[in-house]
Amino acid sequence: MLSLARTIARPGLARAFRAPSVAAAIHTLPDLPYSYDALEPHISAQIMELHHSKHHQTYVNGLNAAEQSYAQAPSVKEQIKLQSALKFNGGGHINHSLFWKNLTPTSEGGGKLADGALKSAIERDFGGVEEFKQKFNAATAAIQGSGWGWLGYNSTTKKLEIVTTANQDPLLSHVPIIGIDIWEHAFYLQYKNVKPDYLNAIWNVVNFKEAEARLAEAAQ
Ligand SMILES: [Fe+2]
Repeated sequence: MLSLARTIARPGLARAFRAPSVAAAIHTLPDLPYSYDALEPHISAQIMELHHSKHHQTYVNGLNAAEQSYAQAPSVKEQIKLQSALKFNGGGHINHSLFWKNLTPTSEGGGKLADGALKSAIERDFGGVEEFKQKFNAATAAIQGSGWGWLGYNSTTKKLEIVTTANQDPLLSHVPIIGIDIWEHAFYLQYKNVKPDYLNAIWNVVNFKEAEARLAEAAQ
């Protein structure tokens, strides 16, 4: 009671220990750069519609709610309690926003890796494009539970590396060049439990032009 009385008597002191509030940004679901059926037969329209309009929307809503709660949290302790919700929903929003751009219909160049800086870097760091895909798929299929497989650029070594993250953790150790969602919601309706089939199929719709642009930006 004594400490409470002191706090009441000295409101300035209470304010001094209050965490600074952060204005909550309003995040919105980005439009897909193609129609829901554009990636068929490799990823079904049903998966794409649910994945984008329901799953990604849920992360956006969760992130907005967590940021609003964070901005209104009365103490650092209350803000710390919100960290996992921020990480999960913020990571989900970041990862899926990258993922949609990672993909493009086969008719628009999906799956085609042209000669250039990205292809050269993949050949240099993995011994070849097919070798890279095999290593990527093996590492990504081995994720226990839900997560993401990444081709990442290591800014220290200047090399490409295959990395995985759990849950919706965003890739922070590397610059993301390609990210593949290995949550069941990304493939189960079409591929059931056969993760390797999903991983083999998705290379037909990977947008390597987008990946090359990310590499060029990362390497600057
Ligand atoms: Fe997902």
